[in-house]
Amino acid sequence: MVYICSECGNEFQKWAGQCGACGAWNSLKEVTPRITGSKRRKGRVSSLHRSTAQPVDLKLAVKQSSELHRIPTQISELDRVLGGEPEAGLVPGAAILLAGEPGIGKSTILGQVSLQIAQMHKVIYASAEESYAQVSSRLQRLDAQLESLNNLQLLQTMRLEDLITTLQSNKPEVVIVDSVQTFASDQIEGVPGSVAQVKEVALQLIQICKSMQITLILVGHVTKDGNIAGPRLLEHMVDVVLWFEGDRSSELRVMRAIKNRFGSTAEVGLFKMEGGGLTPVANPSEYFIADRQSGVAGSVLSVVMEGTRPIIIEIQALVVSTQLAMPRRVATGLDYNRLQMLIAVMTRRAGLRLGDKDVYVNVVGGLKITQTMIDAAVCTALWSADKDTPVPENQVIIGEIGLLGEIRRVPGVETVAKEIDRLEIGSLAGPQVRSSIKLPKSLKYRALKSVKDIKSFK
Ligand code: TYD
Ligand code: MG
Repeated sequence: MVYICSECGNEFQKWAGQCGACGAWNSLKEVTPRITGSKRRKGRVSSLHRSTAQPVDLKLAVKQSSELHRIPTQISELDRVLGGEPEAGLVPGAAILLAGEPGIGKSTILGQVSLQIAQMHKVIYASAEESYAQVSSRLQRLDAQLESLNNLQLLQTMRLEDLITTLQSNKPEVVIVDSVQTFASDQIEGVPGSVAQVKEVALQLIQICKSMQITLILVGHVTKDGNIAGPRLLEHMVDVVLWFEGDRSSELRVMRAIKNRFGSTAEVGLFKMEGGGLTPVANPSEYFIADRQSGVAGSVLSVVMEGTRPIIIEIQALVVSTQLAMPRRVATGLDYNRLQMLIAVMTRRAGLRLGDKDVYVNVVGGLKITQTMIDAAVCTALWSADKDTPVPENQVIIGEIGLLGEIRRVPGVETVAKEIDRLEIGSLAGPQVRSSIKLPKSLKYRALKSVKDIKSFK
């Protein structure tokens, strides 16, 4: 017996309550060692004598890597997340993990990716989860002109060995593996999805794809507590980890890179799930404020910076007398504790009395915001809702709020101002800006000092 840590993937001969490598508690799982263990070890020794790894001159390595061209997915929001200026897209030989909850749209987006890429490059879509019929009917739904596609092959198997043989004989440029938890190797014991299997499948595929310069896209399921199922090691082994999330009840899907060896992790990709698959939301600000009603108390526009892109959003607040001993505070799309703090600051510093009222705050459109840049807008929405006084429709408000009730500086004011000017929304209010910051002339900017200033929006 050996024991594998489900957090870091390290192997141990003896069980212990705590993993000796990563320190996680109760993470060691018993697995039967590899059946071919002794053969493998022999193989390793002999391969030591005929090692083919040679050091390469740096100049040569640079030249070789500059000759490698990324494969654009042609899906603008995905290329944005994959990054890489000026050429965006999939890096040959890279291992990419696409993680997300079931039903979020992983197979859909990868179906679209394979259809796009297969116009120029050879792609294999290996699925252990779905039959040929299921995969092909989805592809048909995504693109009607399947006849002209000669470069896309489907493979339906759960055996890792089948997949590897196919890669060796067909030599694709991109392989999609849906999902890493449903493939298993004959060489080791354990059901698909077990720690040992996930580790083995990922390790073997990454090795072979690196050596053949195939871009590997692994689909990874996410457990209920929001982790990628399988060892943490998976995240260390791959070059890129993409996280696909969204509320299944809304059409918005957000893609983030939480690790990217080839680009920034700051950019996010936004998609809408529609009948014909996922469509990029190319103009997010317009998307998020499209259905806004005018002249209603409790609605305020604000801005978040997602990567280098400012996105205008609507914050809504509803304040009603409570029937409960403990009034309700409900935050949708923003942090609950942050909302509690903002309510406390407004109570103490601006005299807003919410002790006997239920408070609901919602970020419209399904985005989840962790940035403090929306603080001032949340407070204004609370104020407006409680006093039943609408804030002017074209007023955008930004700024972080401190415990003293002060409005603090936020990064990217210049970019935000430009976006508001571009959309001809009108006026922006926020923290005082340095004189070196150039704001567009046509934009009305009002500096806010403290939460008391919020009361004057009418
Ligand atoms: P899917 O890609 O199968 O999710 P995952 O692979 O992450 O588990 O997508 C599942 C949902 O997407 C399913 O409920 C149906 C919906 N969907 C659409 O709305 N439009 C489409 O064009 C497709 C293919 C799926
Ligand atoms: Mg799927």
